[in-house]
Amino acid sequence: MDTINILINSIPPRFLEREKIVPVVSIAAATVFLLSSHMWLSTYKDNKSDKEVKKIPIPGSRYPYFGHMFSLGTSPGEVIVAWHRELGPIIELRMGIQTWIMIDDPILAHKVFVSNGAVASNRPYMTFAHNHYALKGKGIVFSAHAKNWKYAREAVLSIIAPKVVDKNYIKPIQSEAAALVDRLIEYSKKENGVDPTVHLHLNSLNTICRAAFGKHYSFEDPEFKTMSHIIERTVVMGAMEQDIPNFIPIMTVVDYFSGKHATMKNFINNERNPLYRKLIAEALERPGTNFVKSLDKFNFTVEERIVITSDLINGGTDTVSVALSWAFVIMCHYPLAQKKAADEIDAFIKLNGRLPEFSKRTQLPYCVSMMKEGMRFRPIGAFGIPHKMDADVLVDGYIIPKGATVVSSMESMHQNPDVFAEPLKYYPERFMNNLKTMDAAAKGKIEERDHFNFGWGRRMCPGIYIAEVELFTSFIQVLSKCTIEPVRDANGKEQLPDIDHPVTAGLILLPIPYKVNFVERTNSLI
Ligand code: HEM
Repeated sequence: MDTINILINSIPPRFLEREKIVPVVSIAAATVFLLSSHMWLSTYKDNKSDKEVKKIPIPGSRYPYFGHMFSLGTSPGEVIVAWHRELGPIIELRMGIQTWIMIDDPILAHKVFVSNGAVASNRPYMTFAHNHYALKGKGIVFSAHAKNWKYAREAVLSIIAPKVVDKNYIKPIQSEAAALVDRLIEYSKKENGVDPTVHLHLNSLNTICRAAFGKHYSFEDPEFKTMSHIIERTVVMGAMEQDIPNFIPIMTVVDYFSGKHATMKNFINNERNPLYRKLIAEALERPGTNFVKSLDKFNFTVEERIVITSDLINGGTDTVSVALSWAFVIMCHYPLAQKKAADEIDAFIKLNGRLPEFSKRTQLPYCVSMMKEGMRFRPIGAFGIPHKMDADVLVDGYIIPKGATVVSSMESMHQNPDVFAEPLKYYPERFMNNLKTMDAAAKGKIEERDHFNFGWGRRMCPGIYIAEVELFTSFIQVLSKCTIEPVRDANGKEQLPDIDHPVTAGLILLPIPYKVNFVERTNSLI
């Protein structure tokens, strides 16, 4: 009842004043739709009550109509971990009128997303993402599993293929990483430690902007602030809680009168699109290679170019910066592992007289394992990006119904004791026998995957290789020049950051804001 009150209280006064003109018909229609969807679901289940079909467990606590929507709390990842531990690798959630299937077993996820990729690669409709951000289904991330998506994805795969990254983007990645280290050391000295968030954000944004537009920003650049603001607003507007009518159709009227859609439209038309138009025009004139020029040989409209470049900037900024933020804060907790990695880097420098590039990564097995274990130990998202089923499939005795949203429970999967021995332990050595690039591991046999942060099947992240090069390069440069240490309080006592309570921000899992010291190494070899 409290939940219903919260929802009612959230109705803007503007709507309440105009209560009398609410179209009763639309409420009735929505209610009929809601109830009939539930009836359809139960009839469907009854018809399939075949002995061989196993019922997907549904966790206990849910509300009428809203289902599990309000049972997930502020840390949905943790709730889902607990439900998987109680009920097994596959669970079904009722999210208003939507059916969500959550999977935390990689083999089962592989069978759904990869073996049944032809019907398990669509995206569920999300109002902001589809209508506004993707200009009615353009681009890659949110577009339907159809011809346009395939064409855009192939174009992107060709412009960020490993060979292309090695040839064109290694140097910019290295120079952005060097600038990052200098800033982290400088800002640590200025105060008692630094919160690296904004520095990592600038680093990953600059890296992807250099590759996409041949352009990079300083902190002071007003366009850097505009870009960051646009990325942040995109995340906020795309959040599930902004899209309640998609789950509870009766709430459409609230959205209609709240003016939310006008705000979204305005943001895209008057802020995002003009900036991207300008960036694309400038990139075409700039000397050197960039994504925009590479996209020119494909047959895309201006709107498609805007959404594709926006997909690359949004997909390649917070993901990389959050993975690095976790890597650094974990280092602070594990000084022995940090020392071991630094020794490995120093040994390479002694032998070769230079910093290791990504192509020499197998000569630094401990560092490679650490990068992988960091992403396993603290994945950057509690969940993968949702897929939608285009047809019923039967997998391991479970029917995954057409129309269902299927999500990999990333946090739970990476803590699944059936997949990783002692999963709650940070143990970099666990990957010493799997030094393949994350890109190769993700595209190889399921049994040989290292971690699952990059998703699944036809929708798997196309940016794995460039992301991995960025992560490796920044990690190596930081540890070659500094040690990451906890800040100290007035009494000289170490203040270790909290790494056990990740904060949920949209699809991303962030460390609680923290400060650490990047202390310049007096024995650095470069
Ligand atoms: C640590 C870094 C990154 C992580 C963990 C990550 C993770 C993911 C995940 C989980 C998906 C969804 C996969 C699925 O639906 O099963 C995805 C999709 C995507 N990512 Fe990444 N990503 C990262 C970096 C990047 C970078 C650097 C770029 C671009 C340069 C990028 C561009 C994209 C795009 C365009 C898609 C949409 C693919 C599609 O729907 O077909 N990502 N990513």
